Amino acid sequence: MTKAPIRVAVTGAAGQIGYALLPRIASGAMFGPDQPVILQLLELPIDKVMQALKGVAMELEDCAFPLLRGIVCSSDTKVAFKDANWCLLVGSKPRGPGMERNDLIRENGPIFVGQGQAIAEVGAKDVRVAVVGNPCNTNALIAMHSAKGVPKERFTAMTRLDQNRAMSQLATKAGVHSTDVTHATIWGNHSATQVPDYVNTKIQGKPANAVIKDEAWLKGEFFKTVQQRGAAIIAARGSSSAFSAASALVDHVHDLHFATPAGEWRSVCVVSDGSYGVPAGLISSFPVTSDGKGGWKIVQGLPLDPFVKEKIAATVKELEGERAVVADLLK
Ligand code: NAD
Ligand code: LMR
Repeated sequence: MTKAPIRVAVTGAAGQIGYALLPRIASGAMFGPDQPVILQLLELPIDKVMQALKGVAMELEDCAFPLLRGIVCSSDTKVAFKDANWCLLVGSKPRGPGMERNDLIRENGPIFVGQGQAIAEVGAKDVRVAVVGNPCNTNALIAMHSAKGVPKERFTAMTRLDQNRAMSQLATKAGVHSTDVTHATIWGNHSATQVPDYVNTKIQGKPANAVIKDEAWLKGEFFKTVQQRGAAIIAARGSSSAFSAASALVDHVHDLHFATPAGEWRSVCVVSDGSYGVPAGLISSFPVTSDGKGGWKIVQGLPLDPFVKEKIAATVKELEGERAVVADLLK
C-alpha cells in the first residue's frame, strides 16, 4: 500500500542550500525510497526571488521524481507550513568573510519568531522542526519559544555538518575510511566554540584518542579544523557551504525519522534537560538516539575528559550569551 505523503516545508528554498537540498528530498534520500513527499517552499515576497523559486519548482517538475506528489510555492508562512510534518528552516542570511555566525543574530533571529508562530498555528499535529539558518542553535531556541503549544522536543538545530566534518578529519588522520568512524560526537553550539569529542568518538570501535595517539593534534589542529571549517569554506569559495550543508540536513532528518541502530548515536542540537551540566532549556548539541517514532533521547553517562569538559563549559557560556542577546524575542 502506498504511504501517505510527508509534507516537508523548506524555507529559503531558492537559496544555495535549497537548490542542493530539494532534489535529494524529492528523490527519497531523506525519508526513504518508498515514502512520497509534498514540498512546500517558502521564499521572500520579492518578485525576483519568487521568480527564481518558480524556476526551482520547474526543475523539480522536470525531474519527474516518482516520490514527489506536489509542490507548493509561497511567500506566506501560513501556506508553506500548512499541515507540514517537517519544517526545515534554512531561509536566512549567511555570514560573509570575517564574520562569526552569531554576528547574524539580530538580523536573522526575528525571522524565527513569525515562523515559530506560524508553525504552531498551521503545522501538522506531529510537526518537527530542523533549523539550519545561523546562528542555528539560538534561532531554534527562538522558534521553540514562539511556537506556543508545540512540544519543545520537536525543535532541533543542525550540528550534523560538524559531525560529518569531524568523521572525515579523523578518518584521514587515522588512514581509514569515514565509515570506520562511529559515535562521532559534537557538543554545544554550531560555532567556533563547538566541541568535537575525541574520546567518545570511535575509530574501528576504539576511542579516537586510543587510535590517534597524538594529543597535540587532537586538541589543536583537529579542534581548530572542525571549528573553523565553515569559515575556511567561505574563504575558499567566496560563499558558505551549500551542498555539504544540504547533505548534512538530509542525514539529520533521515536519522531522526528512522530509529538509530542499537548502540550508536548522532550529534543533534536539542533542548537540554540539564544533561552533562548544560543548563536546561538551551538548545545544545548532544549525542542523541532516535526511536524512529518521533522520540529521541540524550545518551547518558559518557565520560568527559577534563579538556573536553572545559571546552563544553565555554560553548555553553556562549549559548547563554546568545540567549541574552535575543531575550526580547523569547517571550
Ligand atoms: P542563501 O543566501 O543562498 O539563501 C538563503 C535564502 O533564504 C535566500 O533565497 C533568501 O531569499 C531566503 N530567505 C531569507 N529570509 C527569509 C525568510 N524570512 N523567509 C524565507 N526565506 C528567506 O543562503 P544559504 O547558503 O542557503 O544559507 C542559508 C542559511 O544556512 C544561512 O544562515 C547559513 O549561514 C546557514 N548555514 C547553516 C549551516 C549549519 O550547519 N547549520 C550550514 C551552512 C549554512
Ligand atoms: C558552516 O558551518 O559551513 C555554516 O554554518 C556556514 C558558516 O557560516 O560557517
